[in-house]
Amino acid sequence: MKIITITINGKEIKLEKAVTVLEAARSAGIKIPTLCYHEQLEKYGGCRLCLVEVEKMPRLQTACTLMVTDGMVVRTETEQIADVRRGILEFLLINHPLDCPYCDKAGECDLQDLVEKYGPAKGRFKEKKRKVKESLADSAIVRNMERCIMCTRCVRMCEGRQGASAIAVIDRGGHSHIEPFSGGKFDCEYCGNCVSVCPVGAIMSRLHRHSYRPWQVKEQHETVCPYCGVGCTVVAQVRDDVIMRVIPKLGSAVNNGMLCSRGRFGYEFVGSKDRLTTPLIRKNGTLVEATWEEAITLVAKKLSNIKVMFSSQAIAGIASLRCTNEDNYLFQKFMRAAVGTNNIDTTARTGFAGAQSFIENIFGQGATANIISGLANSDTVMVIGGDPTTMNPILGLQIRACARRNGNVLTIGSIDGLRNFDPTKLLPRLQTETALLEGIVTALREKKGLPGSNAALEAKIKDITISAAEVTDKTGVTVSELSVFVDLLAAAATFSLVIGKDIVQSAGGSYKLLLLSAINYLANGRIYLLSEKANEQGALDMGCAPDILPGYRPVAYPEFRKKCENVWHTELSEKPGLNLFEMVDAAEQGSLKAVYVMGENPLCNIPDSGRVEAAFRKLDFLVVQDIFLTETAKLADVVLPALSWAEKDGTFTNMERRIQRVRKSVHREGMDDWKIIAEISKNMGYGMDYRRAEDVFHEATRVSPLHRDLTYEDIENGDNIYPYKGEPLRDAKEDILIDRSAPAAATGKLYLKIEKPLFHSGTMSTKAPALINIYPQSVARISAETAQMLSLTEGDVVRVKTKTGSLALFVAIEKDGDRSSVKVGNNFEGKGAFRLTDCILDPVTKAPCLDSIEIAIEKVTA
Ligand code: SF4
Ligand code: SF4
Ligand code: SF4
Ligand code: FES
Repeated sequence: MKIITITINGKEIKLEKAVTVLEAARSAGIKIPTLCYHEQLEKYGGCRLCLVEVEKMPRLQTACTLMVTDGMVVRTETEQIADVRRGILEFLLINHPLDCPYCDKAGECDLQDLVEKYGPAKGRFKEKKRKVKESLADSAIVRNMERCIMCTRCVRMCEGRQGASAIAVIDRGGHSHIEPFSGGKFDCEYCGNCVSVCPVGAIMSRLHRHSYRPWQVKEQHETVCPYCGVGCTVVAQVRDDVIMRVIPKLGSAVNNGMLCSRGRFGYEFVGSKDRLTTPLIRKNGTLVEATWEEAITLVAKKLSNIKVMFSSQAIAGIASLRCTNEDNYLFQKFMRAAVGTNNIDTTARTGFAGAQSFIENIFGQGATANIISGLANSDTVMVIGGDPTTMNPILGLQIRACARRNGNVLTIGSIDGLRNFDPTKLLPRLQTETALLEGIVTALREKKGLPGSNAALEAKIKDITISAAEVTDKTGVTVSELSVFVDLLAAAATFSLVIGKDIVQSAGGSYKLLLLSAINYLANGRIYLLSEKANEQGALDMGCAPDILPGYRPVAYPEFRKKCENVWHTELSEKPGLNLFEMVDAAEQGSLKAVYVMGENPLCNIPDSGRVEAAFRKLDFLVVQDIFLTETAKLADVVLPALSWAEKDGTFTNMERRIQRVRKSVHREGMDDWKIIAEISKNMGYGMDYRRAEDVFHEATRVSPLHRDLTYEDIENGDNIYPYKGEPLRDAKEDILIDRSAPAAATGKLYLKIEKPLFHSGTMSTKAPALINIYPQSVARISAETAQMLSLTEGDVVRVKTKTGSLALFVAIEKDGDRSSVKVGNNFEGKGAFRLTDCILDPVTKAPCLDSIEIAIEKVTA
């Protein structure tokens, strides 16, 4: 390897590869001023602030675009350079308003800092200032475009990194300006990544407008986004115990400076006036305020009584996909050790849990724990089961990046967020994915042969045979479409398969998962299983499931129980507990008497919510521990106010199985979830003594072989990637159970489709005003074609009816929507799609099948 040596300002710098002069200087700690350059963006070379002198070159050169060559001698600060920079700044200020005292960017504005460095310009140019009115058309973003210096960072960000292409440079020369394609409003993905890179106060977050100055931020806390399973690193900037702003961190492993709308603008729920502040106890049918002591004593007493009268099996717990590992570990320990039952589960049961264990049974533990950035580096990515750009937006960006690098993106079903990336797509008729996947497996096997490394899977693959003509007949996908798709799969050198929830939650889900596993196997790929909530993986890893102890040790095996019993100093029940759906059945039948819910809203988040509500009403005792009075909490006998993600320490485990530190950013009176549980446990006579979240984690690492020997220090040092310090626990199983019952054929009627909007994910996002302003309420999304047929226009109110429920919703018309389905989200309390679904489970994954629910639409007349 030839070392390149250059000299900058007399300092000799040795480089292993050619980089730009700017990068070389930065690597040696030499600062060159820039405006249009940004490390996340493609080089532009437009502002010329970075001009430097290079020996043997006649003119000044832009350091951000000039590549180093061996022996180059560079000077970055000379009188001549300073003069030129001063001149450029003077030009910029001709148009720029001098409203720095009013501008929120003051204190972190690159232009202001540079003018301060190179001195005031003399103002030789007298031109009228550009006047553009401040725009408050967008709820999350404020624009003051008269401050724009045309560096195009925002455009390069939106197009190049975000892949939204929502803004562009309009007009030429002195008239050029930045404008959203959608007209006056941005009306885009509201990721705010353009906000991150704008060097001046032209595009800014509206959430903290005129409320503080950057230098008033006294604390910055690096933590994890509380929303989805991607687990982006965020920095919470705090002033007087209030989160003023959440920003991404450049260089962080998961999101490297990018955020989605939820992560960036969704933090305001923390300070919501609707937060629960005090425990509530139901008295004479009404929830009234109580002291902590009263509430804790009452919960302990009631649970103890039910245990004595009806046995431990009459009590169940629902843990939380948005609480920390520590909270979840302690909750399952409480249910097992203090209450004495394995009746513990989470809403991961509605899809993720069953799908992951199905895939792990085939490929071994950790099969879905793949690094998200690997998607961008794959040469072929196949997506099925929903839109990753809305469910796990930052993961979605990696697929867009793959497409931009000329990778092949293959999609099955319409994936809106990838539409502009030229995917190779197959659109099978409703409820015919099985035949299509069988067709792909058959053709791929014929093309590539069997690799011979997984006998159990190969035995199943050998059974799958369908001709291309038959596939066309059943699905509507033509023989040539199928063959192009299969050719690309067969040619893939690095293949990634992204599986969304819709395929897991469909009739015949386990068989489809088998077919997908077969495709992945034949194409030698890796699997990404989309994950909706921040700690979905962590809650499972911590043993919040009826049949497994922390670290996936089956509860039925005495030697695994023994290990926990030794640390927990109590005997454990060997009987696997009730899963989420069995809990509802048992409550309905009257055998389940009490349910303790931590950080979850089962009345909204379990399908067939109406039935869930009726079942929960039958309980003798319901405890809900949450940060808001959710619809489940409204039904409770005792409500315990918890601290939110921003107010506690702990860890989350993301969908890559990366464990990350959640750090307390603001202080609030109250108790962590784990602390409340420990207090109740003590009152029930089972002592739990921990001072800090870290103590709880330490204990978890003693009982969970998955987390063996891990410490917070390891995690902070980056030793947090699966398989951590131990080996994977389980190998593939010999037998692969599947259910091949064919889904009912579509009848040509309208079907319900669960929408997963970019801007919402339930309880927290619906309490965040910025997100509510973007997406205010639950709607029925109807295709333009269906709307015309039913004489509906945007904003009409319709009643959406199924055999299990009905909802009155506003109509939103989708121009290119699928005419066979109507989309309803499950994010708004009382108006969630799960009110409309029944709950027929896949016999293998035990996930509910939500894809064949017929609906009727009726216009509600005023
Ligand atoms: S918020 Fe995101 S999508 Fe919208 S213009 Fe900015 S970068 Fe583009
Ligand atoms: S709005 Fe900001 S980022 Fe965009 S071109 Fe103008 S100054 Fe640059
Ligand atoms: S992708 Fe997920 S984790 Fe990242 S900012 Fe968005 S919601 Fe948060
Ligand atoms: S930073 Fe180099 S030209 Fe703008």
